[in-house]
Amino acid sequence: MTILVTGGAGFIGANFVLDWVQAEGTPVVNLDLLTYAGNLRNLASLDGDPRHIFVRGDIGDFDRVLGLLQEHRPQAIVHFAAESHVDRSIHGPEDFIKTNIVGSFRLLEAARAYWGDLPQGERDNFRFLHVSTDEVYGSLGPYEPAFHESSPYAPNSPYSASKAASDHLVRAYFHTYGLPVVTTNCSNNYGPYQFPEKLIPLMILNAISGKPLPVYGDGLNVRDWLYVGDHCSAIRRVLAAGRPGETYNIGGYSEKINLDVVKTLCALLDELHPQSPRTPHAELISFVDDRPGHDRRYAIDARKVEDELSWRPAETFESGMRQTVQWYLDNRPWIEDVTSGEYRKWIDENYSQRMAAS
Ligand code: NAD
Ligand code: DAU
Repeated sequence: MTILVTGGAGFIGANFVLDWVQAEGTPVVNLDLLTYAGNLRNLASLDGDPRHIFVRGDIGDFDRVLGLLQEHRPQAIVHFAAESHVDRSIHGPEDFIKTNIVGSFRLLEAARAYWGDLPQGERDNFRFLHVSTDEVYGSLGPYEPAFHESSPYAPNSPYSASKAASDHLVRAYFHTYGLPVVTTNCSNNYGPYQFPEKLIPLMILNAISGKPLPVYGDGLNVRDWLYVGDHCSAIRRVLAAGRPGETYNIGGYSEKINLDVVKTLCALLDELHPQSPRTPHAELISFVDDRPGHDRRYAIDARKVEDELSWRPAETFESGMRQTVQWYLDNRPWIEDVTSGEYRKWIDENYSQRMAAS
């Protein structure tokens, strides 16, 4: 079974490609534009492996995508490619509209054209798996029940609005054209190869360099955290046994306030990296201006994927965080590679005014 993965050079996509080749061993065509977030170093262990076919290209290029589908005849498309960072969507929403909405639409069109020409048996087995986020459901109060698959959509950032739009398009292609789609809505991932614009890798990198740890607002926002390897196993499970037209919420049963996440990282670094310029690392915590429109709380009710598909995360927050911190400590060349020019520009744009104001 060949599959086509979009965005397979990014954080979750690369973890998924590595996981797929190891677990399933069948070919992966990896279509990725290599934006600032895409990095072929993530896939270096597959260099020379004929099961990984990398293609640099845009999901919004209908002819290119259709050509790839006709050439490689995948049995599934797993769609990760997106602009994924909320703060960037606040600074500049346009790329989010282009990739997450228009790009997903063109990809769906190419998938529909390819699928429509397949022989009946292959048509029935084909799947379009859309990887989405819990952010489409908006923000929860402290005592509200966790998001479930029929929670109303209420996206609050340009990022989550663009993902919500793509979820709706995916749903419409099932209802209107019968394209066999499944959607997963997952909580915050962390683990190896995450670009250090996101909370956990940013805090690890700043902490080991003795830089301030910029906690937005009062630091009491809540996220549910899932180790990326567990997200990959959930996607494989949904691809194998999820019902077409359904959505599945994926979560880590691990709600944490941001401040506790940062303190956990600091304590792990005190233990694993006592030679940092400033310890205890928690002394670096610094409260900065909040993210505009910052969602207060996300929580995932993952009982559907557990009951129907027998999936549960293998890692706890504690075991996943320890592995993650160790991975960043062991992979300095990767960090140096991703924190060059463009990265420094972003850090300056996002944090300099916040720091000055607080
Ligand atoms: P990422 O930003 O690390 O990677 C995105 C990848 O998509 C990059 O490799 C980039 O080059 C590629 N890409 C961007 N635009 C493209 C285009 N037009 N054509 C082809 N490739 C393009 O993102 P991530 O954190 O790995 O997230 C992957 C997916 O999972 C996204 O759809 C995101 O919404 C979703 N998701 C992420 C999380 C999380 O915590 N990171 C949680 C739930 C869902
Ligand atoms: O919930 C799933 C989503 O999780 C995914 O769809 C997104 O692609 C992914 O980026 C992530 O979104 P968040 O906005 O929750 O992740 P981020 O790592 O940017 O922030 C996590 C929390 O930490 C959030 O409450 C904001 C806060 N934060 C973030 C950064 C970067 C800080 O306090 N300081 C920071 O410097």
